[in-house]
Amino acid sequence: MPVNIAIACKAGIKSSFPPVSPDRPFVSANSSRRALESLRSQRWLAKDDMRSFAHRQRLQQRGLRREEFLGRPVIAIVNTWSDLSPCHAHLRERATSIRQGILLAGGFPVELPALSLGEVMVKPTTMLYRNLLAMETEELLRSHPVDGAVLLGGCDKTTPGLLMGAISMDIPVIFCPAGPMLNDRYKGKSVGAGTHTKKFWDEYVAGNIKQPEWIKLEAKMTRSPGTCNTMGTASTMTSIVEAMGFTLPGASSIPAMDANHVRMTSACGERIVEMVWEDLKPSCFFSKDSLANGINAYMALGGSTNAAIHLIAIAGRAGLSLTLDEMDQAARQIPVLANLFPSGDKLMEDFFYAGGMPALLQEIRSQLKLDALTVTGKTLGENIAGAENLDPDVIRSLDRAVAPGAALAVLRGNICPEGAVIKPSAANPKFFRHRGRALVFESNAQMLAEIHLPDLAVDENTVLVLKHGGPVGAPGMPEWGNLPIPKKLLQQGVRDMLRISDARMSGTHFGSCVVHVSPEAAVGGPLALVQTGDMIALDIEARSLNLEISVDEFARRRAAWKPPARVYERGFTRLYIEHATQAHQGCDFDFLMGNAATPEPPIY
Ligand code: FES
Repeated sequence: MPVNIAIACKAGIKSSFPPVSPDRPFVSANSSRRALESLRSQRWLAKDDMRSFAHRQRLQQRGLRREEFLGRPVIAIVNTWSDLSPCHAHLRERATSIRQGILLAGGFPVELPALSLGEVMVKPTTMLYRNLLAMETEELLRSHPVDGAVLLGGCDKTTPGLLMGAISMDIPVIFCPAGPMLNDRYKGKSVGAGTHTKKFWDEYVAGNIKQPEWIKLEAKMTRSPGTCNTMGTASTMTSIVEAMGFTLPGASSIPAMDANHVRMTSACGERIVEMVWEDLKPSCFFSKDSLANGINAYMALGGSTNAAIHLIAIAGRAGLSLTLDEMDQAARQIPVLANLFPSGDKLMEDFFYAGGMPALLQEIRSQLKLDALTVTGKTLGENIAGAENLDPDVIRSLDRAVAPGAALAVLRGNICPEGAVIKPSAANPKFFRHRGRALVFESNAQMLAEIHLPDLAVDENTVLVLKHGGPVGAPGMPEWGNLPIPKKLLQQGVRDMLRISDARMSGTHFGSCVVHVSPEAAVGGPLALVQTGDMIALDIEARSLNLEISVDEFARRRAAWKPPARVYERGFTRLYIEHATQAHQGCDFDFLMGNAATPEPPIY
């Protein structure tokens, strides 16, 4: 059944979608569209004055004919390709197919390169630069004559960065996910990016893998371009963004090297032109209901703890409030259903063959807001209608969870008054309730220097604590939270310990790691007061994490605390230290939160 949906946008404009053709599901079936003169690109290109003359002249400098750009929506392809982002190695080719789709629908494509943020190469951490990509996306779209944009990314921070900026700019956008890399196998077993790197590293440190094999493994696990093929942060974020309505149905699960992926990208190009004519901006469809769908999908996916930070930041850009407690509540209701590493034992290619996101969303449809509108101009319920679960071992039903623990538990206590998170589904259940003696590292450098010392005072019940890994302290909140297991314990067969930090943890990793302790140590959070030898008690069921010292001792340590010296005073890092919010607030810049309108630039 075609739908007609009246919507109210941020600018207060009322628009009404034309019916959608069943034959070409992403193309409007009638000619009811906004006027050409209302497109923002027309301010640059349509006037008979010297400025507009110069804009047209400069486009013709590229060898274009006037007919190729005049009277057409100008569509940006915001491309996060780079030679040092192997996950995005194919995005230049995909930009070409997006262009085809834009041309097919009568638009004028322009490619705008943006900060690439390859997760593994960028130091000290891509998280430091997520907000920079968000700023860049907003300003790229604001300062150029574009009417809509395809956001092309997928590696961890590119998805939230692109989306945060685009939501703030609030012109029609569609997210085009890079797609996961292909599965790999080693000695007959599925091996995936990130998860198995960590597993094999532990065996190497323990002496169970020798150097020749270790070198051979370097060419394994990352078999093709595309994002990590486990349910790490990349697939978590692209899948959540699909559930929130920003992608074409099923887009996030398609492997990067599949011909379906090429077709999906050209369909994105075609659809965005229609979205521009419909004036379908994020503020027209991204709502608290969309957010709830994203959160519920996050839990069913067994997604990365990083998503808890990114979702709060994305919501904030739309003026939507979101707390850690709301996510905890969803985690209590929805078990992990996607049988993917690190919670399960399959990979993203298996998830695609099982039906991908539409099939997973079908399994939790009773928990979804099916009327939430999406970039297709249809509701989420319409987008997933008819989707089938083709492999019930990969995508489980609500009564057949993958793991005993939830995807997320939000902890509170005297160490983390504003919250901390753990991923029980990727932790050893023996640590769900645990009491142990703290071994504290004041910095990551100290931890790396000491963790494998043969005389380290540690046993399997020790709680490893790392300070100064937070947004301000590190700075940038790197993924240091999965502290290595000390070599002497690895050699005894220990593979998990309780670890606590104000840093983050890779979504591909597993282990009993409490991360995102807030407020962080560097700004005087109570984590700063923990000392080696203190007893720490974790109870996931009770959602509590506490330091067992007296109130008087707490006060004495508080009085003696001094803020650490800043390690970096220049450029963007300085801006970050001075304006990034804490983990429970999404780490966005305080001056970019909220949905105040982004002003159009004057043209003269
Ligand atoms: Fe790019 Fe994992 S390193 S998605």
